[in-house]
Amino acid sequence: MKMFERSQIGTMSLRNRLAMAPMGTNGLTDIDCGYGRRLIEFYEARARGGLGMVMTGAAITNTEIEGGIAHLLPRIDSPAYMGRLSELADAVHNHDCKLVLQLTAGFGRVNFVENNPIPPVSASENVCFLDPTVTTRALTTDEIQQLVVSYATSAGMAKIAGVDAISIQGYGGYIIDQFMSALWNRRDDEYGGDLDGRMRFAMEILGATRAAVGDMPIIFKFTPDHFIEGGRTLEEGLEIARRLEAAGVDALHVDAGCYEAWDRVIPSMYEKPGSQLELVKAIKEIATVPVIGHGKLGNPKLAQSVIDEGIADYVCLGRPVLADPEWPNKVRAGLESQIKPCIACNDACIGRGYEMKYLGCTVNPLTGMERTYEVFPATSKKKVLVVGGGPGGMEAARVAAERGLDVTLWEQGAELGGKLLPAAAPSFKQDIIPLLAYMKHGLEQAGVKVELGRVATPDAIEAFGADRVILATGSRFSPPPIPGVDLDNVYSSAQFLSDKPETGGHVIVIGAGLCGSEVAAELAVTDGKKVTLVEMAGEVVPEGTNIPTLMGIRSLLAQGQVDIRVDTKVMEITREGIIAERDGKSEAIAGDAIVMATGYVPDATLRDAVESRVADCVAIGDSVKVGKILNAIWSGFHAARVIE
Ligand SMILES: Cc1cc2nc3c(=O)[nH]c(=O)nc-3n(C[C@H](O)[C@H](O)[C@H](O)COP(=O)(O)OP(=O)(O)OC[C@H]3O[C@@H](n4cnc5c(N)ncnc54)[C@H](O)[C@@H]3O)c2cc1C
Ligand SMILES: Cc1cc2nc3c(=O)[nH]c(=O)nc-3n(C[C@H](O)[C@H](O)[C@H](O)COP(=O)(O)O)c2cc1C
Ligand code: SF4
Repeated sequence: MKMFERSQIGTMSLRNRLAMAPMGTNGLTDIDCGYGRRLIEFYEARARGGLGMVMTGAAITNTEIEGGIAHLLPRIDSPAYMGRLSELADAVHNHDCKLVLQLTAGFGRVNFVENNPIPPVSASENVCFLDPTVTTRALTTDEIQQLVVSYATSAGMAKIAGVDAISIQGYGGYIIDQFMSALWNRRDDEYGGDLDGRMRFAMEILGATRAAVGDMPIIFKFTPDHFIEGGRTLEEGLEIARRLEAAGVDALHVDAGCYEAWDRVIPSMYEKPGSQLELVKAIKEIATVPVIGHGKLGNPKLAQSVIDEGIADYVCLGRPVLADPEWPNKVRAGLESQIKPCIACNDACIGRGYEMKYLGCTVNPLTGMERTYEVFPATSKKKVLVVGGGPGGMEAARVAAERGLDVTLWEQGAELGGKLLPAAAPSFKQDIIPLLAYMKHGLEQAGVKVELGRVATPDAIEAFGADRVILATGSRFSPPPIPGVDLDNVYSSAQFLSDKPETGGHVIVIGAGLCGSEVAAELAVTDGKKVTLVEMAGEVVPEGTNIPTLMGIRSLLAQGQVDIRVDTKVMEITREGIIAERDGKSEAIAGDAIVMATGYVPDATLRDAVESRVADCVAIGDSVKVGKILNAIWSGFHAARVIE
């Protein structure tokens, strides 16, 4: 397989053509933002997994000019950080893997502004992405030069510490890109104006870094197309690539989008696999140095085709190796069905970052907790009964069985999956299907005794005589007390997605959370129905939904021309539609079918009934608190991990 052939970037020889994409590692550093044990274990697991190179997430080179993000990401702005960086380099090298350190010159207008004592900066005065009420100030030329010096100094320290290459974070609307783009750079000095001027900052960083690191490879990550009005388009992107090459970069790492089009940068579940490949291909056609491409390339066949067809020289995997660090080893060994697939939910990796929580992964609770949550063989052969075959129950059963416990899983339905089944039903949510397949396969491999069509009752559970019972019974639909909710033209979202009943041409969806919005988009975009989406609150999709997902669903709703009615309360459901109220005025909205996406409640019936009848019982997932796949899998994992 060409993907596993030895390759070369500048002076760096690599064991294959697989890279880990740079990903910001919030929450994993030492208290002083150094590369501590957790971060080293996090990267070592990926190096052990068979990658040719691990690219770190952005590391800070200067904390004086810009604050905020500097308190979350690793720092390499002082010799005090070099010792631990050298430990990281050794840990990665021990697995025949190369370490590429990404350095940032700053975040500029996309930096955190809340609780940041240092006012934000940029190429010019720009509106801040995270708080449009705040405007950046333009950097002075002295400050620009200070940033260049800091950057090169950090690169020099990295080289001494044993890093193999530097990645320049010149993409996605971060500060270097803010300088390069006419949209955010309106300076009239030598750092603005035409492309020469706008690229001066990047070129000075490149030149100073080259002087500091000698022939050590420098990779430049850049964005040939911002995919927003007024942003960069491919023509300029190609020209930037030519100039970077001429200036001596050793590889071009291609990205897409910017914060305003974040679902292009970090493609959501709704984007197709390989969503950035078109741009990668365009750059590859003109490049003479190696080209690195990424963006939902976790499907091994797709990854292989990227190399075989010459679309890129390197496949870069971000979230796929958060989900499964062993991706390369498994592909190489032909064990594709054992790869834990990233579902592009962005909940634990991106979403948690914005909640100031440590970097994690929905499908892999070990990510960022490699040693802390290490799973050990059980010390006894306890009998474990898991009730419920949704993601929570399946995770608990597999992990318990892998630990050597004697595990039985009862699922009342005819198939495994629980609410993963309706979750995966929309045509644009196919990323969940491989997860379901992986989980089913995992149960088989681990030797879990699965009994389908088996309804757990309190008597049956007690009679089974398990040492530990794990209840993963999920949630149940709880319709609000609206007159007409029992009519036969009314469906719950899960029922609707699972059964796909025949409806007329106009469907009303009540509840514009993520689930309701997805149902509306599926009906409108895939089925071509006329859809009205009604929401009592003031906006579509709840606050707290991660930004790429939010952008993705909003564009699907726009694409499907869904008629969105916010601040609208449903008063009654009839055979002809609904009666709703907005601003105190009543209105009849016609519709052939009504889908209720108004929420589920935890189903704790079984727990309440058996808790006092069995020795050791724990409830997990939606049966405790209705959440997402993340909560179900993580709680299932821990319920099994802690069994003594
Ligand atoms: C339409 C829809 C779309 C969704 N989309 C997403 C998404 O995109 N991303 C995301 O993160 N989350 C999504 N969710 C939420 C997610 O699917 C749930 O949070 C998750 O499935 C909960 O897992 P669980 O194992 O706790 O429960 P469930 O998945 O509900 O599984 C519970 C299982 O227990 C079984 N069971 C119940 N009682 C018994 C009994 N007495 N005996 C035997 N078996 C029993 C049930 O049949 C069921 O199979 C979605 C939910 C819905 C409804
Ligand atoms: C949690 C997270 C943090 C990221 N941080 C960085 C970063 O620090 N530097 C960078 O160049 N890209 C960063 N990215 C973007 C990734 O490198 C990659 O371009 C993107 O995730 C798409 O690739 P994937 O589909 O393989 O994940 C980040 C992505 C994620 C998910
Ligand atoms: S949290 Fe979701 S998107 Fe992020 S790596 Fe894990 S599965 Fe993929």
